[in-house]
Amino acid sequence: MSEWEGKLALVTGGSRGIGRAIAAALVERGVRVVLTGRSEERARATAEELGSRAQGLAMDVSDRETVIRVIQSVFDEHERIDILVNNAGITRDNLLMRMKPEEWDAVLTTNVNALYYCSQAVLRPMIRQRSGRVINMSSVVGLTGNAGQVNYAASKAAILGFTKALAREVASRNVTVNAIAPGYIDTDMTRELPQGATEALHEAIPMKRIGQPSDVAAAVLYLASEGASYVTGQVLQVNGGLYM
Ligand SMILES: NC(=O)c1ccc[n+]([C@@H]2O[C@H](COP(=O)([O-])OP(=O)(O)OC[C@H]3O[C@@H](n4cnc5c(N)ncnc54)[C@H](OP(=O)(O)O)[C@@H]3O)[C@@H](O)[C@H]2O)c1
Repeated sequence: MSEWEGKLALVTGGSRGIGRAIAAALVERGVRVVLTGRSEERARATAEELGSRAQGLAMDVSDRETVIRVIQSVFDEHERIDILVNNAGITRDNLLMRMKPEEWDAVLTTNVNALYYCSQAVLRPMIRQRSGRVINMSSVVGLTGNAGQVNYAASKAAILGFTKALAREVASRNVTVNAIAPGYIDTDMTRELPQGATEALHEAIPMKRIGQPSDVAAAVLYLASEGASYVTGQVLQVNGGLYM
């Protein structure tokens, strides 16, 4: 039996982009995956594409009651969650001078509060079973900052502090907590960038290419694997050398 069989992963924002690639990579290894998104239709459609080991559910991660209810339903049905990938995230870009309270709140609630809601909901059973992996999706922007993204950069930097603090809380229970900080990855999120900005980015990346969702999925597989059992509180950068 492989190290992956019998494991259950919950991937938030697994209906598209990076989360979809993460869900696909885990399913391919033999992990049962519950992938979630805001849109139930899209989450279900993605799960259908990935095959019978995947299940798609609607779960708005910015709503605590919803998160508690949906995660409880996952425990009721599958009896365990071994791997939590806190991947769902949004941008609402604007210069600080023009940023509206709704833009600030939406990004902080979706990108940061969700980690509190989702991680708290899975942690007790993980501690009880003396094993678990929590993997949080930060961003290169959380390390470098980016003009026009104070809300997003603040949220992604907060994820790093959350990751390290929680890693210390649960390390002795064999639960690891790590973060991934992707650079620029080809998804709907970055397709919104103007053409000129994309070209300038290519130039700035030492590897001269934008990353693929599969590049990030490979990092998740590593952090979720047995091979990473002594790795916790770390930030794994997947950025083509953009920031070192
Ligand atoms: N793309 C990049 O270059 C890049 C770089 C660094 C970090 N990241 C981070 O990587 C993660 C994934 O990004 P992506 O590029 O794959 O984004 P994306 O293509 O825009 O996909 C976002 C995913 O998150 C879900 N989502 C958004 N808000 C949600 C909410 N309130 N509740 C539940 N699900 C929600 C979406 O669900 P629906 O389909 O239902 O809307 C979708 O599945 C994000 O945390 C992002 O900040 C991305």
